[in-house]
Amino acid sequence: MILGGPLRSKFEHALQEQVLSLKSPLEMVKPMVYSLNSGGKRLRPLLLLSTIEVLNPKKVDQAISTAIALEFIHTYSLIHDDLPAMDNDELRRGQPTSHIKFDEATAILAGDALQADAFAILSKDESLQAHQKIALIRELAHATGSSGMVAGQLYDIKAENKTIDIEQLQQIHLMKTGLLFIFAMKAASIILETDQDEKELMITFGQHYGVAYQIHNDLKDVIDLKEEVDGLTYSDIINHKSTYPSLLGVEQAKVSLVEEIQLARKVLKDLEKVSHKSFQQLDNFLTPLEKYL
Ligand code: IPE
Ligand code: IPE
Ligand code: MG
Ligand code: MG
Repeated sequence: MILGGPLRSKFEHALQEQVLSLKSPLEMVKPMVYSLNSGGKRLRPLLLLSTIEVLNPKKVDQAISTAIALEFIHTYSLIHDDLPAMDNDELRRGQPTSHIKFDEATAILAGDALQADAFAILSKDESLQAHQKIALIRELAHATGSSGMVAGQLYDIKAENKTIDIEQLQQIHLMKTGLLFIFAMKAASIILETDQDEKELMITFGQHYGVAYQIHNDLKDVIDLKEEVDGLTYSDIINHKSTYPSLLGVEQAKVSLVEEIQLARKVLKDLEKVSHKSFQQLDNFLTPLEKYL
């Protein structure tokens, strides 16, 4: 699942400039860059930039720093997600995870650094007004912190070896995965200063996309034969994770995924009605989720 095109090149270029501007010693920068540049799909920054491009292409440049900050947070979340105390994964994107490539302390600290640096990047953004920066910092902190992604990660771990109901699982998905996608949409709304109707629809798209993405991610782990051939065992299975496939079975998980994709598509139609713009570009985020259906 690769979303390419000029926005992707623009983002990669800006991200590499940001990386080059890091002034810390190599031993600090190296593990940060290793995980930033190890083949991530850049979905969250591209969702933000694509939404801006649809609604007001002139403002794409104003969203670049926020897109980078969001990828820093996502990267930190993955480094910590893979740690032995969390999902205990040795591979990510087919390469050694941070704590395997370096060591556990380095991985923890690289994650910590990426998180703090994300907020520094937002605060230094000169293309936005002060009130927009404060709103972005507040929303990113909220999406990430004790009532956000990190809390979702805690509930995900606490739901191991348990049977939880599907509403609880959906809430965990919304928190651990959905909130960073929702932030991408909220950030677009803050940068574009959209009206309330548009903002609410954008957030609703983020919710359905986020849940759909996590169901797809968990289905992929169960279905992807290639990984099986590589002789890997899935940490989800070893850790007895609560996922849509583990709670409902593969077929019912697919039904739930279809529902979320349909709901997301309906929001795109509603967005077209209120904005009079074509949201076809955002459907590119949904079609790859149909791969395992
Ligand atoms: C993986 O996210 C973790 C989830 C929230 C499902 P991505 O699939 O976006 O990760 P990369 O950055 O593209 O590898
Ligand atoms: C990752 O969820 C969510 C976050 C890092 C916030 P998973 O643990 O399900 O994702 P993978 O399978 O490791 O990418
Ligand atoms: Mg996890
Ligand atoms: Mg994991």
